[in-house]
Amino acid sequence: MSLSKISSLSKKNLGKEISVAGWVENIRDHGGVIFIDLREGNEILQVVVEPQNKEIFEVAESIRDEFVISVSGEIRERPKGTINKKMTTGEIELDSSNLSILSKSKPMPFQLDEYVKVGEETRLKYRYLDLRRSEMQETIRIRSNVSNEIRQFLTSNDFLDIETPMMTKATPEGARDFVIPSRVNQGSFYALPQSPQLFKQLLMISGFGKYFQIVRCFRDEDTRKDRQPEFTQIDIESSFTSAEEVMNLGENLIKEVFKKVLKVELKDFPVMTYAEAIKKFGSDKPDLRNPLKLIDVKDIFTDSEFKVFGDPAKDAKSRLVSLKVSNSLSRSQIDDYTKFVGNYGAKGLAYIKVNDANDLKEGLQSPILKFLSENEIESLSKKLDISSGDTVFFGAGHKKIVNESMGALREKLGEDLKLIDKEKWAPLWIKDFPVFDEAEDGSLSPSHHPFTRTTDNLEMLEKNPAMARADAYDLVLNGYEIGGGSMRIHNSKEQRKVLSILGISDEEAEEKFGFFLEALDYGCPPHGGIAFGLDRLVMLICNKDSIRDVIAFPKTQSAYCLMTDAPSNISNDELSELAIKSTIQPKD
Ligand code: AMO
Ligand code: AMP
Repeated sequence: MSLSKISSLSKKNLGKEISVAGWVENIRDHGGVIFIDLREGNEILQVVVEPQNKEIFEVAESIRDEFVISVSGEIRERPKGTINKKMTTGEIELDSSNLSILSKSKPMPFQLDEYVKVGEETRLKYRYLDLRRSEMQETIRIRSNVSNEIRQFLTSNDFLDIETPMMTKATPEGARDFVIPSRVNQGSFYALPQSPQLFKQLLMISGFGKYFQIVRCFRDEDTRKDRQPEFTQIDIESSFTSAEEVMNLGENLIKEVFKKVLKVELKDFPVMTYAEAIKKFGSDKPDLRNPLKLIDVKDIFTDSEFKVFGDPAKDAKSRLVSLKVSNSLSRSQIDDYTKFVGNYGAKGLAYIKVNDANDLKEGLQSPILKFLSENEIESLSKKLDISSGDTVFFGAGHKKIVNESMGALREKLGEDLKLIDKEKWAPLWIKDFPVFDEAEDGSLSPSHHPFTRTTDNLEMLEKNPAMARADAYDLVLNGYEIGGGSMRIHNSKEQRKVLSILGISDEEAEEKFGFFLEALDYGCPPHGGIAFGLDRLVMLICNKDSIRDVIAFPKTQSAYCLMTDAPSNISNDELSELAIKSTIQPKD
């Protein structure tokens, strides 16, 4: 008899003989009758073994949790009182007539329902067992559904799925490369792609007007809850297109995924400029579900005697902002937030507690009040529209530090004070990014990657690179950057210019990207695209806190695989074949 899937069984099978196979979720002896919860995927079927059937009863008695068994018998209705409406098979059970053990299991290193207690390390060491949990089964299933919907959407819009090399030359996306030493070409290294950026552009030059790939990317950067050293992109590129068209396509793709997978109809995504996002939220990936906003108060303090505010108020490279919450916070909470912004380089966190908004002399509480003039307090009270019970924070200093620290504080306060409506979806396009990010020391790095076109002209790019805008866009969802892309440079002159502004010499450009610069000279169509982070998208769809929870075999925070022990030493023989000598003494 062929095997039935547990998920397909219901009352319609009553009286039918069927066979099933799976794992023993648990086994209970109820006064001579043995009950087995048999699990397949995240579905469970109750199997009953009656003592009359001596042969199989004996087998059943030797069964332990997580054994793999097959059972045949008749589907019957559960006795009244034992019906479990929460389960899809909660009204039926299998009256076994035949049972065999297909595979035994050692006692488990952790009980699947005690996964929280054992912690993530044990779960990752035994990931193949952790994946048996119904929550993980469901997540991985949803991930597969999301990929399928994406494939269907893109292929039905005439995009071709084209594979690009994994062993390649460095593609700069702002992280370090993982490299592969070559045995055949000793002393030379391939790089794993940080993204297929150059290859997808080359495919446009080749005349494949619409490309996509669900592709693994590799970046040697600090791992966080939304970052893994290897992760998956939904990578898209088209020729003869515009930023609007790509954004439209990307928006329709995400809407389709939400409709098909979550049965959620997302409304049209709002669009905000980078400048507006930074001004209001201190971040280029704001969670719009969070109502808090940064308010600039430089204008109030340009002549202030309080240097902490007065100096940045007069300095073009500095920012002075306030952040108001309608909560009266305790001293220890404020101290914690002061420590928190310190992690982002802020030198302090000035605050004012508003006890009585109608009494600006006696009703405010703050160590900085003594430094502020009556006028300044009056103007603040008006501009911030303070009410009794508010707490107002201030961030002052270099723009980058204020944006990062106060942006992060806004997010933290939103979470801590439960201001975020977790039932909502908040997609948001950010556009008009700067072409370059300027560090405190004035050095430039690409805000996206160096192949992004500017919406300004080349002259502007050369004269005032820090001010030039990029024809680039990011998609943000609930405070996470889930995608980013741009229109690309499609001639070698402009490409060389951007590389030189980045401080890459002609020789270095030739050595690193010579093949690409040459390709741009053979009829390159105008083109652009986008890449979405599949792991982040699935993390949000599945309502998980970390992308590790939606990747079958993820790495830890320190980019380590606890299950396989990778990365690990390799023998001296292997190293010498690759002409490599390690300067690290191998650990025993
Ligand atoms: P970008 O670097 O913005 O663009 O990457 C695109 C998207 O990939 C996801 N992502 C990550 N997810 C998990 N772990 C990581 N370490 C990680 N890094 C990035 C993010 C991000 O939005 N070639 C360009 C795309 C283009 O211009 O078309 C690129 O890679 O969700
Ligand atoms: P100080 O003069 O350093 O003692 O700071 C006076 C107050 O201003 C304290 O409450 C500090 O936390 C706060 N403060 C100091 N530097 C900053 C800054 N860069 N941004 C915001 N507040 C600050």
